[in-house]
Amino acid sequence: MSKVYITTAIPYVNGAPHIGHSLDYLLADVYYRYRLKMGDEVRFQSGTDEHGNKVFSKAKAAGIDVREYASQNSQKFKDFIALLGVKPTEFIRTTDEDHERRCQEIWKKLEQHIYKSSYEGWYCEGCENFVTQKEYDDNHGVCPDHNKEYQKLSEENYYFKISDFKDEIAEAIEKGEMSILPEFRKREMLELLKEAPDVSISRPVKSLSWGVPVPGDDSQVMYVWLDALSNYITVLGYPENDISDFWPATVQFVGKDILRFHTIIWPAMLLGLGLPLPKTICSHGFILSNNQKMSKSLGNVVNPIEAINKYGVEAFRYYFLRHIDTFVDSDFTWEKFEDAYNNELANDLGNLVQRLAVLTSKNDVVLDQFKDIFTNSDKQYKDFMDAFEFSKAFNYAWEKVQKINKDIDEQKPWEISKTGTKEELSECLNSLIKDLLFVNELLSPYLPKTTEEISRIFIPGQKVTPPKIPLFPKN
Ligand code: MSP
Repeated sequence: MSKVYITTAIPYVNGAPHIGHSLDYLLADVYYRYRLKMGDEVRFQSGTDEHGNKVFSKAKAAGIDVREYASQNSQKFKDFIALLGVKPTEFIRTTDEDHERRCQEIWKKLEQHIYKSSYEGWYCEGCENFVTQKEYDDNHGVCPDHNKEYQKLSEENYYFKISDFKDEIAEAIEKGEMSILPEFRKREMLELLKEAPDVSISRPVKSLSWGVPVPGDDSQVMYVWLDALSNYITVLGYPENDISDFWPATVQFVGKDILRFHTIIWPAMLLGLGLPLPKTICSHGFILSNNQKMSKSLGNVVNPIEAINKYGVEAFRYYFLRHIDTFVDSDFTWEKFEDAYNNELANDLGNLVQRLAVLTSKNDVVLDQFKDIFTNSDKQYKDFMDAFEFSKAFNYAWEKVQKINKDIDEQKPWEISKTGTKEELSECLNSLIKDLLFVNELLSPYLPKTTEEISRIFIPGQKVTPPKIPLFPKN
């Protein structure tokens, strides 16, 4: 049994969750359920990132006290996570008192790598990121991700000496001690690291008051990313607790847009604290809507709650985990989603269960004891899962579902029921159901409710009662 620690990015609470937020949670949840099944002890963190300009200005525009505004939105994320069937063991809010106090401890421990200097340059409030003159020029003064003009900042800040750690980080990445997935992003990150300047890690209170105070300097608050990244260890009780059972993290899930923070500032912080680097950082692509970035101004934002309410959470998990590639950008359209529901979930799996259950029950077949099927002994599946290739593992399992459908069509148990013996029929149905229960195991991290239901229908050693309502009623 190993100790496993899985983390997700913590979203800003500057609005309600949107469909793009689902991926971090779903990928982490599949891995969490898989490792639990493998018998490991797992902690799974999630939470909300509540400080910074972005949240502050939204609260102000809404005319709501910022703390209240952050609480309301944080609750929406918590509810959304539950709606997705995702079950983190920890939920941290960066406004938690314990987190703020621990952040200040972290700052003090990093002090020998911190210096004060003045900053004159650009800032993107959308990214909460300081932008170099080159980026400013390349993007003609407008952030391509947020379609917003960069702000000019001229202020005294504290800086963190990334330069103290660059070589060590590059070596850890090259040697795979901190593995970055997918491979092409690893190369991008190594390039960025070469150019990475020291980073500003505070803002003057007069420009931004909504943040964790810098210890010993009332005129400054911490840069939101320093505060946010710390969550991964403060949630485990660092620095007062010994976190070595669960740190380094087994895997940290983040979107491609924030990978750079996790491969430059975050490892530098960890090295400054004398902590080991995470074993894997897994970056997923973006969910697009009709092949475009989702944005309110384009009017193509998909509301995840609408999709879940209409088709159920299992259909949502199915689409996002199988048809949204784990590592590259993928498109969401209602048409594709509905197709996947009707043609794959309802036809391939729903019908298969219904057919096998009806045939078994109608012919009074008792299920075998099915020894040795629950061993997770499928090497190919395990290899995909261990490499965080979740959509590939799902496809692989789904091909097995399709194979069982093909086997039924070829073996024609309905004909055996007329022309063969009872033993022949029982052998045929039992063998098909054994295959189904095996694939059910492989599918269980992806479709927890459906697979539980299938296990309830086909109980080894018992007769079968078909479900009154199909698992996925056709729309
Ligand atoms: N607060 C920071 C993360 C701090 S982690 C220490 C942040 N928040 S965010 O709300 O902008 O994004 C949260 C997560 O959602 C990130 O992993 C981000 O990549 C992901 N996504 C936001 N929109 C997305 C899509 N359209 N598609 C897929 N994921 C995207 O960044």
